[in-house]
Amino acid sequence: MSEKILVTYATKYGSTQGVAKAIADELQSKGFLIDFYPAREVKSLSGYDAVVLGSPLYIGSFLSDASRFLSRFKSDLERIPCALFVLGPLEKNPRDMVEVQVQLDNIMNRISWFKPMIVEIFTGAMDIEKFRFPDSLLKIMPVGKDNPLFKTYDGRDWEAIRAWADSLPKIFEKQPV
Ligand SMILES: Cc1cc2nc3c(=O)[nH]c(=O)nc-3n(C[C@H](O)[C@H](O)[C@H](O)COP(=O)(O)O)c2cc1C
Repeated sequence: MSEKILVTYATKYGSTQGVAKAIADELQSKGFLIDFYPAREVKSLSGYDAVVLGSPLYIGSFLSDASRFLSRFKSDLERIPCALFVLGPLEKNPRDMVEVQVQLDNIMNRISWFKPMIVEIFTGAMDIEKFRFPDSLLKIMPVGKDNPLFKTYDGRDWEAIRAWADSLPKIFEKQPV
């Protein structure tokens, strides 16, 4: 049984932080000791029995805080059970999910040493009024303005997120494949 779990995340506009917090709270409510930090603030993985890492997808990549976390702690993460979640699609329609799965497969192929015990795609959220430069250009440039993907929405499925968090302790008990 994993006792002390690090829940860590990268985020640009906060929606991934919200999902990570819900996962942390759910695990804490089950009696696990939880540390909850942004990925760039994590100094060491010593003492953790498991790690949950979350990143949004931006143009087919993880945010750099998540990528850096993976390279900084590569040797620990080859040993400690890890669960990975990504945020991205607006909704779980089959076309978007296939596209996002391809993006995720491409990323995972580039970091083939990293073998999380579970990988999940959650629907994300976007508030175009909060966009900072250069994303703010999407509000005025045709590539963003006329694109149905760039609109204010919150597609986070809290029930699915909590159910996933509940499934983690059992998954962490298994041996890595
Ligand atoms: C400029 C931009 C590019 C994005 N690129 C992708 C992408 O390639 N794949 C995807 O699934 N989602 C993409 N998204 C959606 C985000 O991943 C989603 O809004 C996520 O919830 C944002 O997380 P954050 O609020 O933690 O930064 C993009 C969003 C923006 C604004």
